[in-house]
Amino acid sequence: MTCAAYGKVGRVTDAPTLPDLVHPANSPDSPWWRDAVIYQIYPRSWSDSDGDGIGDLPGITARLPYLRDLGVDAVWLSPFYVSPMNDAGYDVADYRDIDPRFGTLHDAEVLIDTAHALGLKVLVDLVPNHTSSEHEWFRAALAAEPGSPERARYIFRDGAGPHGDLPPNNWRSVFGGRGWSRVPDPDGTPGQWYLHIFDTTQPDVNWENEEVRAEYDDILRFWLDRGVDGFRVDVAHGLVKDQTFPDTTGSMHTAENAPGHRMPMWDQDGVHDIYRRWRRILDEYTVPGDPDSERILCAEAWVQPEEALARYVRPDEMHQAFNFEFLDTRWDPAGYRHVITESYRSNDAVGAPTTWVLSNHDVLRHATRLAVVQEGYRPNGIGADDPQPDPELGLRRARAATTMMLALPGGAYVYQGEELGLPEHTTMPDEWRQDPIFHRTKGTDEFALGRDGCRVPMAWAKDEPSLGFGPSAKTWLPQPEAYAALAVDQQDGVPGSTLSLYRDLLAYRRKHRFGHGALAWHELDGPETLAFTNTSGDGTRTVLCLTNFGDEPVSLPDGDVIISSGPLDDGRVPTDITVWLRLPTGHDR
Ligand code: GLC
Ligand code: MG
Repeated sequence: MTCAAYGKVGRVTDAPTLPDLVHPANSPDSPWWRDAVIYQIYPRSWSDSDGDGIGDLPGITARLPYLRDLGVDAVWLSPFYVSPMNDAGYDVADYRDIDPRFGTLHDAEVLIDTAHALGLKVLVDLVPNHTSSEHEWFRAALAAEPGSPERARYIFRDGAGPHGDLPPNNWRSVFGGRGWSRVPDPDGTPGQWYLHIFDTTQPDVNWENEEVRAEYDDILRFWLDRGVDGFRVDVAHGLVKDQTFPDTTGSMHTAENAPGHRMPMWDQDGVHDIYRRWRRILDEYTVPGDPDSERILCAEAWVQPEEALARYVRPDEMHQAFNFEFLDTRWDPAGYRHVITESYRSNDAVGAPTTWVLSNHDVLRHATRLAVVQEGYRPNGIGADDPQPDPELGLRRARAATTMMLALPGGAYVYQGEELGLPEHTTMPDEWRQDPIFHRTKGTDEFALGRDGCRVPMAWAKDEPSLGFGPSAKTWLPQPEAYAALAVDQQDGVPGSTLSLYRDLLAYRRKHRFGHGALAWHELDGPETLAFTNTSGDGTRTVLCLTNFGDEPVSLPDGDVIISSGPLDDGRVPTDITVWLRLPTGHDR
């Protein structure tokens, strides 16, 4: 039986209607970053060359051919800089050198050159909102007097209350607890407070200070001179603070808590001047007439609505911004339809591509998240005592979601291991947990398990120690049992495996330039389906992408099934399956 209840099932060719064009095609010779698929490597957890249980740069370099074969265009590496690792490297002590756990600067250069030789671009992570408390600047600030130039690189303030022993305002830390910590004066008496929107060991840098701006200009050049193709910019919405430092009552997880009520530490207008300045630096590296030489900036900015995010990708600012509204969408066609439509509307208005993403190192892996009944804010960490999500349902939906995502025009990010369908580690014993969120919220109302469950080392080979992650059995976080059967060597070349699905999707998408296509809602779209077409700029190829969210299988119109996220049911699309179907030429034009 088909879902006649909502009246949209039927053969399109029987009843053609005008397509609802959402997004026009791009010129096929647009620069690479407008349709790139970028693979995120979390260096600690991808490949360990020396058996210390921590992934490293030589380990990554050795496995780069895997990414060429997967069919991605670029890699983004989470931080590999010198760091005490209180926030897994997002606490940088030296931006111009590599942490010895990961290797050396020479190893980074070899990695970049090897990637380029394989046709892969390389993005590195830039963490400009805060340094580590072990950065030489912060050490100097602590040793210096209040009011000194050393302190002016950070955000130091006198405390409130008669003795200054209350924090300057009520700002919280994103990781739980308060957002200010007090330090002793050089003479040992209790002194000023400094702001840390994240961990206490991540003091926020003062972007009002020109010395700070000049320093990060120089850091950009340092890496551009070493050949990197761009930067993923950490906490891009946080650098500038409302200089009146008002108390605030909103959630730290949302930039705009109510329409027009923007949080004073997020998405302040001043951030855009910084990105214009950086864009001018990056543009100096473009070889005239060679769009392939363009270097890019990608914003990690948790801002809403889509229009606010689009401000980060205006023509003279960044190139890309992660579409977290898409990532945060629950398993619901109306939600996806809304976010897709709004994303194109907002980004097309500024001439920028949309940048789709479903997983990263900060959120539940989508093979788990999509099986969780979500209430309230995005779920953050699942433990052995929590209800356990259904892994089969999660994987089925994850495959359907990715198949849908990779049919969308624009760019996309893929997080390491999602191409294997890896789930979140949902039963990790607490003694392994390292995320500062876990430690800072323990025993409080804000309690959260944190993000370790999505950061577990990769599974390469079922029968090897550490599942082939490294030459020893050591792993800095434990791998769940489920990973063995999902290891690369179990899926490589196996028809129907998640790895084969990703390879097929990426190959077809690249060959037919889906990233540059035009998007229109299709008449099969309905309350229990999501259906759109991706049509090539020259109009010669139209592919229907249909996801069935309903309980009953859905019939397809005439056409050739190219790829399906799971088996079809007598030619019909079952629940939680996405299909790509090539429509006869001339359809929808
Ligand atoms: C970003 C990173 C996250 C980190 C935080 C502080 O959100 O993705 O991992 O903890 O910034 O740097
Ligand atoms: Mg190692």
